[in-house]
Amino acid sequence: MPKIKRIGILTAGGDSPGLNAAIRGVGKSCLGFYGMEIIGFRDGFRGLVENHRLKLDKSTLAGILTVGGTILGTSRDKPHRMVIDGRTRDMTEVIAENYDKWGLEAVVCLGGGGTQKNALRLHQAGLNVITLPKTIDNDVAMTDSTFGFATALDIATEAIDRLHSTAHSHHRIIVAEVMGHRAGWLALGAGIAGGADVILIPELAYDVEKIADAIRRRSRHGTNFSIVAVAEGAMSKDDARSLVAAEKKLERAGTLHDKKEAKIELASIEVRHQGNTLRLAKQLEELTHLESRVTILGYVQRGGTPSPADRLLATRLGSACADLINEGHFGVMVASRGDGSEPVPLEKVAGKRKTVPPDHPWAETARRVGTCLGD
Ligand code: F6P
Repeated sequence: MPKIKRIGILTAGGDSPGLNAAIRGVGKSCLGFYGMEIIGFRDGFRGLVENHRLKLDKSTLAGILTVGGTILGTSRDKPHRMVIDGRTRDMTEVIAENYDKWGLEAVVCLGGGGTQKNALRLHQAGLNVITLPKTIDNDVAMTDSTFGFATALDIATEAIDRLHSTAHSHHRIIVAEVMGHRAGWLALGAGIAGGADVILIPELAYDVEKIADAIRRRSRHGTNFSIVAVAEGAMSKDDARSLVAAEKKLERAGTLHDKKEAKIELASIEVRHQGNTLRLAKQLEELTHLESRVTILGYVQRGGTPSPADRLLATRLGSACADLINEGHFGVMVASRGDGSEPVPLEKVAGKRKTVPPDHPWAETARRVGTCLGD
């Protein structure tokens, strides 16, 4: 097999702690161990279209292990639907041309669920593609975990810890909104680790009356405060029903007109959902007569230095990625499996989301220790 000489690397989707550690892991192993040349492309797939590069050598890779964000920059641009000069265009061919122009023999894409889909498209267009799973949401299919998650879990847990003393002092309900997109891993993990009294996740639609009952029960036993950890994607049973109906409508839509209508309905549900945490806090205040406050943890969960667990995960997946490149093994995601890793075909990852099964051991654990899951 001919030796791989030059590869590209990019980071796509929302940033997450551990991206630089992974760039360093891939970079140092490819450069130092296998003697390859490595070119960084800036701002996700757009860098491959616009030829925005950063040569990665010993000095650019030094000192980045502990740094948050990504030295390459990132974007949510998709190769097949990229806005160029105000117009949405399919840039797959341009990317393939640039891949040849720069003499690349492989491109490493670091990203979450969307990136796995985009990487598969490029692989199907003939490029040698290999991916790593990153996201604070931990929702990429076929991998034990994603880097970024452990750090976000630490940050969200610390926030929930800190909210306890102020909620306790003021006899308040504090509703803490945790990120996670449509998955509840972060809210459930941080909720358990931080001892939240109520944890709400997208996978278990909630009934506000049941949450209020749990809070009132605490009050009756003399505890006049409660911490509610709510995933940004958590929904009431009614809203979840409307969402499922709208998604089914889109699936079944035969004509362009039906599709457009279903998409409008879905978008309006998403817009309505935006103020959900504030509405929930208000409802709980009315139902329990306890004052309530909201804390949206937001981008704090994504920023800053990665935890040791994420540095370790990102570095070991990065170096495993270099081994696979050297073996000429492409069209795969380097999944974390126990202490090791495993190449998983992109077809098995793309378009899938790893959500929390309702009977997952974490959910069962939360119930056992008396946490209300709102269902
Ligand atoms: O996927 C990571 C994530 O941080 C989600 O938890 C969140 O919903 C989303 O990205 C926010 O995206 P953006 O950076 O585009 O606002």
